[in-house]
Amino acid sequence: MALIDWTNDFETGIVQVDDQHRKLVEIVNKFDEAAKRGKGSRVMNEILTDLLSYTAEHFVDEEKLMEDAEYPKLKQHKSQHRQLLQKVERLQFEFDQQGKRITVEVREFLKYWLINHILKEDKAYVPTLMQKS
Ligand SMILES: [Fe+2]
Repeated sequence: MALIDWTNDFETGIVQVDDQHRKLVEIVNKFDEAAKRGKGSRVMNEILTDLLSYTAEHFVDEEKLMEDAEYPKLKQHKSQHRQLLQKVERLQFEFDQQGKRITVEVREFLKYWLINHILKEDKAYVPTLMQKS
């Protein structure tokens, strides 16, 4: 079973955003799969590196959309993005140092982050983006 099942609740209705969110869910599920199979930390690190670079790319695109639409909470949203990236970077560092022991924490954080951020924070900008597009 996948860690995160994509459901309609995740859909923002903005194609580019939804495609990227789907890809993020895929990478997080891949991390979970690898963790379950007891893959070595090299593989896990590769997946986390993938996740970090894809997430950074996604955030740039998302922030551009919010900027273009003059989303009033852009500043707060951007700082959330920064915090999320920093946290994943820190987790990756700890993971690298401590091996499998923090896999559970990484999984729980990624799951919470994706679900919570997409469902709450990202959904909040949808009306503004729809209106301006
Ligand atoms: Fe976001």
